[in-house]
Amino acid sequence: MKLTVVGGGSTYTPELIDGFTRLRDTLPLEELVLVDPAADRLELVGGLARRIFTRQAHNGRIVTTSDLDRAVDGADAVLLQLRVGGQAAREQDETWPLTCGCVGQETTGAGGLAKALRTVPVVLDIADRVRRTNPDAWIIDFTNPVGIVTRALLRAGHKAVGLCNVAIGFQRKFATMLGVAPAEVHLDHVGLNHLTWETGVRLGGPEGEDVLPELLTDHGDTIADDLRLPRPLLDRLGVVPSYYLRYYYTHDEVVEEMRTKPSRAAEVAAMERELLKMYGDPALDEKPALLTKRGGAHYSEAAVDLAAALLGGGGSPYQVVNTCNKGTLPFLPDDAVIEVQAAVGPKGTTPLPTTPVDPLYAGLLANVTAYEDLALDAALRGGRDRVFRALLSHPLIGQYAYAETLTDQLIAHNREHLAWA
Ligand code: G6P
Ligand code: MN
Repeated sequence: MKLTVVGGGSTYTPELIDGFTRLRDTLPLEELVLVDPAADRLELVGGLARRIFTRQAHNGRIVTTSDLDRAVDGADAVLLQLRVGGQAAREQDETWPLTCGCVGQETTGAGGLAKALRTVPVVLDIADRVRRTNPDAWIIDFTNPVGIVTRALLRAGHKAVGLCNVAIGFQRKFATMLGVAPAEVHLDHVGLNHLTWETGVRLGGPEGEDVLPELLTDHGDTIADDLRLPRPLLDRLGVVPSYYLRYYYTHDEVVEEMRTKPSRAAEVAAMERELLKMYGDPALDEKPALLTKRGGAHYSEAAVDLAAALLGGGGSPYQVVNTCNKGTLPFLPDDAVIEVQAAVGPKGTTPLPTTPVDPLYAGLLANVTAYEDLALDAALRGGRDRVFRALLSHPLIGQYAYAETLTDQLIAHNREHLAWA
């Protein structure tokens, strides 16, 4: 089996390599290609990747290249994990929205729109090249904003599935709390990428007993602390929102905090400098502990599980993925991309039926889905007015004056990445 990672020079790649070695029975890789335009970084990351494989006696070959066509030729799956503009662009996304009192975040709100505008054209170009060289390959998109990027890929007819680690993170955490194996925990997970709620936690599978009420009673404080959401809110809702819901439910508090603290991008950039120094040490042959301070825990396990199931070699039969709605959530358009449990196999992903969604969540989901549609329109066709419409539609922006100001800021800070600006 051959797998290609676009953005393979990311400091995050050793997390993937670690998963590929631990889970080699599930995903037996013969060749792993790391492709990246940043040659220096790629060599450092590739060097460590090879040492991890050697230490763990993994027989797979690791190839590093900046030639995308060569990289995807013959690949069974292509994993996209790139970041257009790097942490410097992310730092901007996290900063200028604060001037209007709006959250500054890489995927939520105005910063997320900026990221979508920078990213969608680049990802579509890569996907077109993948399809030209290798139309059978599955594209697994981890590139944010995953919902909008996956919608762009599916609309262009690509063989793509979007992936995020939020669900697998909950699955692992709840399994520990319940004292069961992770595979025993089936989440009723509903929403859009980075806008989800766990409405049930079932033991054994989709039909299993729902133990969410007990989980909240016994572990509510820990869950609330981890999510940085108030415990009483969790009790009132009776469901577990994702960490990203704090940008909605505690928006103004988060903005106050963001105004006084260094940005996440600055923290990550400092970590990346440190990590790259470590990767250059020929004695290092395992994933460094510092990597656990990044947000992508269990990303490699989710990627292995998804690739294995799509390629027909195993993997869990049901997985949380970003895929086409097609009536699953009847209040959203059929072509919306939703994040839910799906049956996964070589033919692709089929969302499992869901129980009716509480209007408390359905309303927000409908609003953000409309925003995502407008965001994609702005990303594909450009233009100040399309950016303005997307910002005005976003539930965390919504006001005319803010949308006007943020439109100007978004364009000013991203001109070099926007072909039309
Ligand atoms: C989580 C999200 C990812 C996001 C990451 C950011 O894993 O699911 O979509 O990229 O956090 O982590 P970072 O360490 O870059 O802040
Ligand atoms: Mn994510």
